[in-house]
Amino acid sequence: MGFFSSKMPKQDSSFCLLALDCDTLIIKPPKKSPLFSRTIALWFAMMCGVYIYGTCLKHVGTFTKLRGECASNPVRFFAILSMQRSGSGWFETLLNSHINVSSNGEIFSVIDRRKNVSTIMQTLEKVYNLDWFTSASKNECSAAIGFKWMLNQGLIEHHREIVEYFNRRDVSAIFLFRRNLLRRMVSVLANSYDRYAKLLNGTHKSHVHSEQEAAALSSYKPIINSKSLISDLKEAEMAVVRALEYFNSTRHMVLYYEDLVTNRTVRLVTNFHGMFIVFLDCFALRGSCRIEKLKDVQEFLGLPLMELTSGQVKIHKGPLSNLVNNWDDVDKTLNGTKYERFLHADY
Ligand SMILES: *[C@@H]1O[C@H](CO)[C@@H](O)[C@H](O)[C@H]1NC(C)=O
Ligand SMILES: *[C@@H]1O[C@H](CO)[C@@H](O)[C@H](O)[C@H]1NC(C)=O
Ligand SMILES: *[C@@H]1O[C@H](CO)[C@@H](O)[C@H](O)[C@H]1NC(C)=O
Ligand SMILES: *[C@@H]1O[C@H](CO)[C@@H](O)[C@H](O)[C@H]1NC(C)=O
Ligand SMILES: *[C@@H]1O[C@H](CO)[C@@H](O)[C@H](O)[C@H]1NC(C)=O
Ligand SMILES: *[C@@H]1O[C@H](CO)[C@@H](O)[C@H](O)[C@H]1NC(C)=O
Repeated sequence: MGFFSSKMPKQDSSFCLLALDCDTLIIKPPKKSPLFSRTIALWFAMMCGVYIYGTCLKHVGTFTKLRGECASNPVRFFAILSMQRSGSGWFETLLNSHINVSSNGEIFSVIDRRKNVSTIMQTLEKVYNLDWFTSASKNECSAAIGFKWMLNQGLIEHHREIVEYFNRRDVSAIFLFRRNLLRRMVSVLANSYDRYAKLLNGTHKSHVHSEQEAAALSSYKPIINSKSLISDLKEAEMAVVRALEYFNSTRHMVLYYEDLVTNRTVRLVTNFHGMFIVFLDCFALRGSCRIEKLKDVQEFLGLPLMELTSGQVKIHKGPLSNLVNNWDDVDKTLNGTKYERFLHADY
């Protein structure tokens, strides 16, 4: 199946408009139509000029400098702010597939690092002074450096100091939330069960890379506490609202997991028989589709546009009624409430 192969061009120069360094992009016009390609090249040149003038200059002052051969390349600091089981693990693998991104994982999952404001600040300084080394750290050519941070890992508790730090050091926040909080709850319960049950041959896994593993993990159907369900959903909803309020003064963008999964590309593929239109589900077909929303993220981080890939596989698929043990209770509890929409949504 040629259209899923890795022969797809990785760097798409047609996104020149969104790239930071337009003049470093090499535009290779197709051989077929010189007039067409000359027009396109001229258009790009014009748009790049406009772009550099309009946007690049505006941000130049906000970047810090890196050393080495990329000394003159700007570096953007970011943090992915999210909640557990909202797709941030998947999202981070996608980001890290970019040659110029180093996202260093969930560094505040270690309690000592979030003990108090001073340990948090020390940890942040280490990351943003480029002193943090993990498997995700790339090289001196990283153009965006960050990590992911869960709301309940000291982020909300110490929001005042953290917002001040973000604004002072120019850290951009990427919020990643899940709209369907009921599906998130199923994932949280199943994940916390697996911590003890270790369904995958005695190993606890929060993210998987094959359909078999996904099926094994989703075979467990959690029981949802229907008595506290409404207040639990409300609490999760409020956590999101609060986070957005507190961090409103930072440079930020908000992403929803559902949009990442469903906002896929319609790709035109040519082969010997003609033109095909391929619809792809971005999570199911690993690493083989372009998620339109990721263009926004790369633009936000000032990165050259690339196609991003992840090897992760979605664990809970299909209707929620198949994934929850006491579905009738849950259905009755939410029927007629503002959370009713969670019952029927696919993602
Ligand atoms: C923060 O925690 C560290 C490590 O436990 C400790 O050494 C330090 O005194 C604490 N700082 C404050 C301000 O509480
Ligand atoms: C991205 O990384 C490549 C390879 O290390 C490097 O040549 C390029 O200059 C980097 N781009 C940016 C914008 O830092
Ligand atoms: C568990 O281990 C067996 C034997 O090593 C292997 O065949 C099977 O695929 C594993 N199952 C999972 C879910 O990893
Ligand atoms: C953030 O601030 C802007 C402008 O002050 C305001 O319009 C917006 O409603 C605020 N958003 C939140 C979530 O507080
Ligand atoms: C998909 O994402 C792109 C980029 O953010 C946006 O312009 C477009 O409107 C989105 N499409 C849908 C159907 O949401
Ligand atoms: C949901 O509520 C509607 C009326 O509001 C009712 O007709 C329907 O039977 C209810 N469904 C369930 C599963 O209770």
